[in-house]
Amino acid sequence: MKIQDIIAKKRDGQVLTKEEIEYFVTNYTNGIIQDYQAAALTMAIYINGMNEQETTDLTLAMAQSGDILDLSELGLVVDKHSTGGIGDKVTLILAPIIASLDIPVAKMSGRGLGYTGGTIDKLESIPGYHTNLTIEEFKKNVKEINISLIGQTLNLAPADKKLYALRDSIAATESIPLISSSIMSKKIAAGANKIVLDVTCGNGAFMKELSQAEKLAKTMKKIGELAHKETVCIITDMNEPLGKTVGNSLEVKEAIEALKGNMEDDVKEVVLTLGAYMMKLAGKGDNIADNQQKMLEQINSGKALEKLKQLVKKQGGDVTYLENHEKFEYANYILPVLAEQSGYITDLNAQKIGEISMRLGAGRIKKEDTIDPSVGVALERKVGDYVEKGEILAYIHANKEETGKQEQKCLAEIYQIGPQKKQKKNILEIIE
Ligand code: URA
Repeated sequence: MKIQDIIAKKRDGQVLTKEEIEYFVTNYTNGIIQDYQAAALTMAIYINGMNEQETTDLTLAMAQSGDILDLSELGLVVDKHSTGGIGDKVTLILAPIIASLDIPVAKMSGRGLGYTGGTIDKLESIPGYHTNLTIEEFKKNVKEINISLIGQTLNLAPADKKLYALRDSIAATESIPLISSSIMSKKIAAGANKIVLDVTCGNGAFMKELSQAEKLAKTMKKIGELAHKETVCIITDMNEPLGKTVGNSLEVKEAIEALKGNMEDDVKEVVLTLGAYMMKLAGKGDNIADNQQKMLEQINSGKALEKLKQLVKKQGGDVTYLENHEKFEYANYILPVLAEQSGYITDLNAQKIGEISMRLGAGRIKKEDTIDPSVGVALERKVGDYVEKGEILAYIHANKEETGKQEQKCLAEIYQIGPQKKQKKNILEIIE
């Protein structure tokens, strides 16, 4: 078999066989196939797509490119993953709530991809927090405190690790077969029995239209079923950022406040919906409203925040930052963005805000860029809010004055203000 023939086949819109897909994944993982060849094939897949069988074969080959964890000793483990968003700090809030309800959470999260943020970059803004544990440490933590959140540093789905970074650098992120195989290969390799997927939809998500998000959700659900992992997909809105902050330590601070009970309405709805289905899949109750109530009790009693502290301590992080989040370093310049007219906010384009945050240094423009944890955007007002001309809409947190001032102007232009109040739906569809 030759990689050139496989590339040519997909370039010409033909269907790849299981053997060809396995050949590509195995030899790309072990370094025989070069990045430029993998980039050509990935772009051909991006342009010409894959049918259901090819997508499943790609997912399974990627899952089998490394170890597949056996978590059976931990009982029933429920995993959660998002297809990516702006200001998406859901895992930081949801995982400790679920773990505090005695449901094991063993989760492998990602870094930022394109203009979307990643949980691992956010967790690493807590000084000392290790995301690269051994499999033994990962399992031990889940056994002892019910939770571990790690990065893709174990030998789990290594093919995805390489392809994920490659896709980011060649503008091949928004593709149903590539996203499905990336997420589901990780979920299969990480060993959970049940999966809840947050499929984001809107301008700040990889799926811009509901019909596309539905197709992605159904594809991943089908793969989950084939792998004997019951999967529920929740399609959520990502037309404006989730919550009030975008940027790594800013989002960690928001998550800490959320676990103290100060949670933004949109974040709350998404967290409670995903969590209630995680509880249902874990056999902790079929009534969604009751499950949500139980989750709120974990927040009100302080048990969920306590669980986050246990997690951070266990993975080497400095818990004093959680006890007093003012300890997180502030950016050098905190620049206000003012309303240019009075009225209701009608649009706050999430993708553009993700791009601002990335340019400020909260994400990577090039693969090798380092993240600046303190920069980002803090939104004081969001879609549906009424503002008077001259009121503060948001703040830019920047470490370089010039960049900060440029982004201050960009953000002011992103805020659309009009006479009519716009209604917003956070949960668009639930596919059980
Ligand atoms: N999250 C992933 O893990 N992979 C993708 O392709 C997109 C979001």
